[in-house]
Parts: sequence; C-alpha cells; structure tokens
Amino acid sequence: MQETLDFIKNEIKDFKPELAIVLGSGLGAFCEGLEGITIPYSKIPGFGSSSVKGHKGELLFANVCGKKTVIMQGRFHFYEGYSLSQNTLPIKVFKKLGVNKIILTNAAGSLREDMPPGSIMLIEDHINFMGSNPLIGVNDDTLGTRFPDMNEVYSKRLRAIVENCANKMGIELKHGVYSALTGPSYETPAEVRMLAKLGASATGMSTVPEAIVAKYCSIEVLGVSLITNYAAGLSKVAPNHREVVEMGKIAGEKLSKLLKESIKEF
Ligand code: HPA
Repeated sequence: MQETLDFIKNEIKDFKPELAIVLGSGLGAFCEGLEGITIPYSKIPGFGSSSVKGHKGELLFANVCGKKTVIMQGRFHFYEGYSLSQNTLPIKVFKKLGVNKIILTNAAGSLREDMPPGSIMLIEDHINFMGSNPLIGVNDDTLGTRFPDMNEVYSKRLRAIVENCANKMGIELKHGVYSALTGPSYETPAEVRMLAKLGASATGMSTVPEAIVAKYCSIEVLGVSLITNYAAGLSKVAPNHREVVEMGKIAGEKLSKLLKESIKEF
C-alpha cells in the first residue's frame, strides 16, 4: 500500500481529496465536464486494470461541486480474479489520502416487482453473500479495529441529504437492502426467490467489500444502486450486460444530477 500511496501523492501533489466516488457500470457520464488530474489504473502500482465493458479504468482527481474529490471510473471485481483485499485497496489508499466520505454506486438487478428498471435505490443495509470478507488477514491497526461494528454501514445522515435533494428535484427514490454474490454468472430464479425471502431488494456483484472496508476505516458511506433490470425469473427478459450498461446510461444521468446536488451538502 505504501508504494501505491507514494505514487499517487506524487501525481496529485497538494490535492487532498475529502470525498471519494466509485462509479459502477454505465455511470461514466458523471465525469463529463469535470476537469482534473487523471491517472490510468494501469500506471498505479498495486492497482489492477479494470477489464469490464462500461468501465473506464482510471482515477480522476477533481473539484466536484466545491468538494475535492477522487473518482474511480470502474472498480476491481472479485469475479475478475482479484482478491477482496486487492478489490478494496483503493478504499484504504483513499483513507490515507484524507477521504472521510465515499459514494459507492453500482448497477443492480431488482428483486421486487415494485422496483422496475430505471429506479434509483438508496442502500440501507447489505447482505454479504460473497462467501468471504475483505478484512481477512493481518489487521492494519492504523486503519481500523480487528472486529469492526457493521451497524449503520450506510450513513443515515448522507441518506437524509440525498432524500431531501431528490424531493426538491422531483426524483423518486427507492430504499432497500443490497445483496452481493460473486458473479460473474447471474443468479438463478431460485436464488432470486431466496434473496427476496431473506430480505434483499436488489442484487449485484460489487460494493459490499468496499462498504465493509470503508466502515472499518471510519469513512462515511453512501451506497446507491441503479436498478438496470429485473433479476432472473422476475421478467421474461434474461439479465444481460448490454441491457445493464444501456439502462445504466439512461438512469445514470438522473443519478448524476442528484449526486451533484447532494454533494454540495455533504
Ligand atoms: N444480478 C447481478 N448483478 C447485476 C444484475 C443482476 O441481475 N444487474 C446488474 N448487475
């Protein structure tokens, strides 16, 4: 981590981000019109290279609505073969750079009929179905404690700000529990029924490890799912990546506007 940190610090000089944003599939539009310092992941020691279509694979350090921000355009997924500790290295690096708030976004499948594609869901809590935990291994006491509490991973304060902005902008928000499986195969209809019965509203293949690490190192988390499709069995159309990216782009514009308004009050 020290090598990664030193490299980034040298690139950004005295830019000190306080906010981090991780953009999920199709959400790249958020960065349009933003100017700042760009660093491709391929240049950063310790970072992977994001291989998923719809993910750009670079860090952007920029001012976003008055906040010094680092934006991850694309993330490292467990299903790409990265370990959960590689997957969450950026979060730890951001903490060391001074970040104290993070927005985690993702594309997700809906587990509820009343939450159609195009919906924006504020994540209230999560269920980790990845079968592993990013904090397994030697604990770095400078970041957090060995057995971190996972109450209120997703900040009530940040959610209230976003809800308030959404009300003012006439944007409808859904709320729910996000469940993460490893992927890359989509869920079976039986798995989808199970997840819904267990209390989840949406399902995806990311975000949970990053949220765990952020909470562990005392970063305030906002989690937002862009609902791109009905999960398997809830619709005649089978989930597919093209649909995910396309719906991400359409609903992503609405989400980008909402986040930019909200960030002013973070
Ligand atoms: N399942 C899992 N991950 C997803 C989905 C889905 O239906 N849609 C977008 N990401």
